[in-house]
Amino acid sequence: MIIDNLKDSASYINKKLNGEKYEYALVLGSGLGDLADEIENPVAIDYHAIPHFPVSTVPGHKGMLVAGTLEGKKVIAMQGRFHFYEGWSMDEVVYPIRVFKLLGLDKLILTNAAGCVNKEWKPGSLMLINDHIKIIAECPNRGANIDELGPRFFDMSEAYSKEGRAKVKQAAATLGIDLKEGVYMMFSGPNFETPAEVRFARIAGADAVGMSTVPEAIAASHMGMKCIGISCMTNMAAGILDQKLNHEEVLETGERVKKSFQSLVKETIRIW
Ligand code: HPA
Repeated sequence: MIIDNLKDSASYINKKLNGEKYEYALVLGSGLGDLADEIENPVAIDYHAIPHFPVSTVPGHKGMLVAGTLEGKKVIAMQGRFHFYEGWSMDEVVYPIRVFKLLGLDKLILTNAAGCVNKEWKPGSLMLINDHIKIIAECPNRGANIDELGPRFFDMSEAYSKEGRAKVKQAAATLGIDLKEGVYMMFSGPNFETPAEVRFARIAGADAVGMSTVPEAIAASHMGMKCIGISCMTNMAAGILDQKLNHEEVLETGERVKKSFQSLVKETIRIW
């Protein structure tokens, strides 16, 4: 039973953390991983050591939970998330989020790199996710419902916490960050979208396209966890500019705005 595995994982982590109570789960997307280095009194737990935890076989992949204090709050950060495009099932992608819930964490902060669909914005913009569109058929909650975590059918009308979003906006205002707000649309990847898919995304009401975050947000809604998501627009999505997309641009832009992205996440944690 998956719930038994989840409980095993949670109890292992709980022992490592001496039974201390944590509040925030932080999923660090591309380029944000080193925010984990700022966590004070860190306890690092290798994914390999956690019973039943998915483990990446990709060389150089960082797979670590880093627990400790950030801005005076108790956080557990995932350094390295599980992407659907890597071949993980949706259940595996959201496995850590479910473990966090069992550990008693009730606030989830998701970050990612995304392609910018909104033509008014520029690469380097940060976008607060206010809603999402899932275009792929798979859903982490397909299959037998785990009743202990949440109901079979569940509401998604506030997948991204209204209260949490207000805090991110307040944090951006404090820091003087020109925060955008919009809809994130998930494609499976690993290919970037075609120009036609990007036009489709825009017509559908999306401002950003990406390959993560949505499964985790769905699992969070199922379990009644408060969730927020912030995207770093690392590039204009395919077809908007007369140029090809490449991963280097994603990394370069990520690097360029890393500082303000990190401050935004930290200030949000401080005030939420
Ligand atoms: N598409 C999907 N995912 C992404 C992109 C993109 O253009 N940029 C960074 N992640």
